Amino acid sequence: MPALTTPGRTNQSVHQENSETQQYTGSNSAKVQLLSVTKTYTNGCHALLDVNLEVKKGEFLFITGPSGSGKSTLLKLLYGQELPTQGQVIVDECNVVGLRGDRLSSLRRRIGIVFQDYKLIPQRTVAENVTFVLQAQGYTRKEIQRRLEPTLKLVGLLTKADCFPDQLSGGEQQRVSIARAIVGTPPLLLADEPTGNLDPDNSWQVMQILQKLNSFGATVIITTHDEQLVRRCNHPVVQVRNGRLSRK
Ligand SMILES: Nc1ncnc2c1ncn2[C@@H]1O[C@H](COP(=O)(O)OP(=O)(O)OP(=O)(O)O)[C@@H](O)[C@H]1O
Ligand SMILES: [Mg+2]
Repeated sequence: MPALTTPGRTNQSVHQENSETQQYTGSNSAKVQLLSVTKTYTNGCHALLDVNLEVKKGEFLFITGPSGSGKSTLLKLLYGQELPTQGQVIVDECNVVGLRGDRLSSLRRRIGIVFQDYKLIPQRTVAENVTFVLQAQGYTRKEIQRRLEPTLKLVGLLTKADCFPDQLSGGEQQRVSIARAIVGTPPLLLADEPTGNLDPDNSWQVMQILQKLNSFGATVIITTHDEQLVRRCNHPVVQVRNGRLSRK
């Protein structure tokens, strides 16, 4: 079970160790840890307040909560798009707060991300959107081809491989972003409302894909508003409300 934790050590000690080694080795079994994390945006908005969370390797966690409660902010902290105002963010034993340049890129290569707003490249086809990260990571053309077809098949987009994003429905674009996130079989998958634009059948199919990835050992963290889907899946759930986390 993922744990809402009380940090076992002070922020200062984590910070001290991190500044020397860029590594955090206090909890080898934890894939993700938030330690007393507060995020206040520059406009003064308090998105997260003193949040503690531990998600172990191979766990599957839902994060629910009303619009504006801080769900996307929490995921953005995990892949280093935003920095915490206070506290520590540990992913895969690295303190994300201390990572820069190549080290941050290296961490991100191990994270599959489904963005809430998809972030597809308009001038590239579905196939190119799904594979460009693999190309950038130096996969061979043969390996890319080996991965592309089954991934597109999995999300039901094999016939749309040569379409551009503006030729797709919202739900199809969402499935392209899911394909892109899973094509490299990442050990950590962060999905921000991955079923937000899908009908119940497609939502359930996407959940089955994410659960399959999880059954291969990936840690999966999903934000969602879909209470029915959460109940149907029977995985642990934490709720964000006004920036504070609680177990449901
Ligand atoms: N870049 C930003 N600058 C200032 N405030 C922001 C920024 N991003 C988010 N916020 C604010 O932080 C709070 C949390 O936003 P966040 O996007 O994390 O919510 P959410 O739970 O993902 O909402 P939704 O369910 O609508 O996607 C909101 O009040 C939002 O207005
Ligand atoms: Mg959001």
